[in-house]
Amino acid sequence: MLQSDHKALPIYIIGAGGIVNTAHLPAYKIAGFNVQGIFDVLHDKAMQTAAAFNIPHVYKTLNEMVAAAPENAVFDMAVPGKQTIPVLQQLPVGAAVLLQKPMGENISEAKAILQLVREKQMKAAVNFQLRYAPYILEVKKLMEGGRLGELSDVEINVNVYTPWHLWDFLTNAPRVEILYHSIHYIDLVRNLLGNPLSVYAKTTKHKSMPHMASVRSNIIMDYGEMVRANILTNHCHIYGTPKQKSYIKIEGSKGAVIINFGALIDYPRGAADSFEYVLLEEGKEPEWKTKNIEGSWFPHAFIGSMEQVLLQAAGKIATADNSVDDCIHTMACVEAAYASSEQGGVGLNVES
Ligand SMILES: NC(=O)c1ccc[n+]([C@@H]2O[C@H](COP(=O)([O-])OP(=O)(O)OC[C@H]3O[C@@H](n4cnc5c(N)ncnc54)[C@H](O)[C@@H]3O)[C@@H](O)[C@H]2O)c1
Repeated sequence: MLQSDHKALPIYIIGAGGIVNTAHLPAYKIAGFNVQGIFDVLHDKAMQTAAAFNIPHVYKTLNEMVAAAPENAVFDMAVPGKQTIPVLQQLPVGAAVLLQKPMGENISEAKAILQLVREKQMKAAVNFQLRYAPYILEVKKLMEGGRLGELSDVEINVNVYTPWHLWDFLTNAPRVEILYHSIHYIDLVRNLLGNPLSVYAKTTKHKSMPHMASVRSNIIMDYGEMVRANILTNHCHIYGTPKQKSYIKIEGSKGAVIINFGALIDYPRGAADSFEYVLLEEGKEPEWKTKNIEGSWFPHAFIGSMEQVLLQAAGKIATADNSVDDCIHTMACVEAAYASSEQGGVGLNVES
């Protein structure tokens, strides 16, 4: 294999569940990545997935997979969060590995993961993939060419109905919305603007599901006096599809973009995305244009998160952009958001 041929590196998948079948493997097929093996504790699931995606090797145990994997193997983990550390412990020292998000269920677990991959000198990254969605890559092209100017406003606004009950493990989870959903937007904002100075948040439960943790959130990522970054999510809009919406708006000194992303609309059916942008021109009225973007968040963004690991493993980049060292900051923002919500706002004082 040529050192530059990162797409030829053999990928070994751990976990053959929903996200692997609906996003990882469809994305890798589009990208032409080389998936060589799969293991799931439920062997039948691994067999079915292997048959559906022509994966040549199915293993009965993780040890068997690790023993069979060549030195240049890249491991792709998509197991329930609690399994992350036990699985990592069994992977070889120095292995290249993509972990599913979130990076643990809180900042202490994230730190334990970071410590473990450092001890094992792994090339480890996290599957925060919204930053690689085709419409975000288009924004980055505009940014790199300086065409949006200096960013001053990022807003993500989601008003949808999300059937949380479909994910059994969320029923009793201590954290739901920010940890499993808004985390994507937090990671995206960080990817666009860097780390915030601090985070303010209020995350709220809903009367129709009083036993669940909070399912709606308002998060302000603080970038000082001149830059505004807000995330607003309501997953409890039960009033039909006409007013469901979900957009990412990015404003800069020279232009702006609004992405209406359809993945969450009328869940799980989804709706089409749209990409609209405006570039300011001296002496002209701003004119919004629409651009057709090939591909969407699911599954196409999953190409980018794996490609970073492959590029690092092939020696083409020093560190994956979504490395654990970067993503620990997304986890720190999540932790700060929950802490801010618990701490509460400033009370009213009408005493003279
Ligand atoms: N990045 C994203 O957008 C995104 C989306 C959905 C889920 N996820 C994450 O992906 C992970 C998997 O989610 P899912 O929806 O596919 O869940 P799932 O329950 O459908 O699949 C998990 C699979 O892992 C297997 N498994 C459990 N322990 C294992 C172990 N020790 N070794 C091998 N296999 C094991 C299970 O048998 C199951 O087949 C979770 O951590 C979830 O939070 C991420």
